[in-house]
Amino acid sequence: MKNLFQKVKYKYHYYNHILRWKLNHYLSLQNRQKVITSYLSKNKVAKLQLGCGPFKLKGWLNTELFGSKDLVSLNLLKKFPIRSNSFDFVYSEHTIEHFSFDKAEHIMKESYRVLKKGGVVRVATPNLLFLFGLYNKDQINKDYLDWTTKEFNLEAKMPSFAINNFVRSWGHEFIYDYQSLSYLLKKAGFKNIKRYSPGDSEYNELKNVEHHWKSFSEQFNNLETITLEGEKL
Ligand SMILES: C[S@@+](CC[C@H](N)C(=O)[O-])C[C@H]1O[C@@H](n2cnc3c(N)ncnc32)[C@H](O)[C@@H]1O
Repeated sequence: MKNLFQKVKYKYHYYNHILRWKLNHYLSLQNRQKVITSYLSKNKVAKLQLGCGPFKLKGWLNTELFGSKDLVSLNLLKKFPIRSNSFDFVYSEHTIEHFSFDKAEHIMKESYRVLKKGGVVRVATPNLLFLFGLYNKDQINKDYLDWTTKEFNLEAKMPSFAINNFVRSWGHEFIYDYQSLSYLLKKAGFKNIKRYSPGDSEYNELKNVEHHWKSFSEQFNNLETITLEGEKL
C-alpha cells in the first residue's frame, strides 16, 4: 500500500512537472514578440545569447529551444523570430558543436542577419586541436586524461578512448579547429575574425561571458575551448 502511494505520488509530481514545463513554453511562445520588442526598446546595446542552457546573462536576451518565464524560445534550426539588423552582439557557448556543419552555417547566417552593421558575433566551442593535445605528456593533458577517464568511466586511460568519447558523446556532431571555425564565420559573412581566450575580448560586453566551465572545471574548459569573434561590416 505504501509502495502504491509512493508510485502515485511520483507520477503526480512527474506529470505536474511536464505539464507546467509545457505550459511555460507555450506562454513563452505566445509572449515572444512582445518580450523581444520590449527588450530592444529598453536596451541601447542589444545582446542576444543563443542556446544559453542554465546560464542566463544579465542584460542579455537569453534564448533556448524551450522557453520559460525569463527565457525566450528560439529554435536555432529555424529563421530567428527577430528582425534584421537589430542586435549589437550575438553570443553562443558550447552549442554549435551539437549541429552538423550545414546547420551551424544556418545559425551563423541568421546571427549575421540579426546583427546591426558593426555588430559582433562571439562563438565558444570545443577545439579539435585540444583532443590531439591529449597525446602530449604535459601536466594539464595528463590531468585531463585522468579526469575524463574516471568521470566518464572510459575503458582505458588512453587518448583514443578520450577522443572517441568526446567526439561521439553529448550529441556532438562537428568539432571545430581554428581553421574550420573561421571558415564557418567567414562563410556566414563575418569579417575581422579574431581569437580570444575564454573570458577575454576587446569589447566590455563580451568579457567574462563564458559560464560553461561552471558545469565542470574552469581549467579544463579553458583547455577544451576555442573562442572566435567576427564582425558584420
Ligand atoms: C551543451 S548545451 C550548452 C549550454 C550553455 N550554453 C553552456 O555553455 O553550458 C547546448 C544547448 O543547446 C540547446 N539546443 C539544442 N538544440 C537547440 C535548438 N534547436 N535550438 C535552440 N537551442 C538548442 C540545448 O537545449 C542546450 O542548452
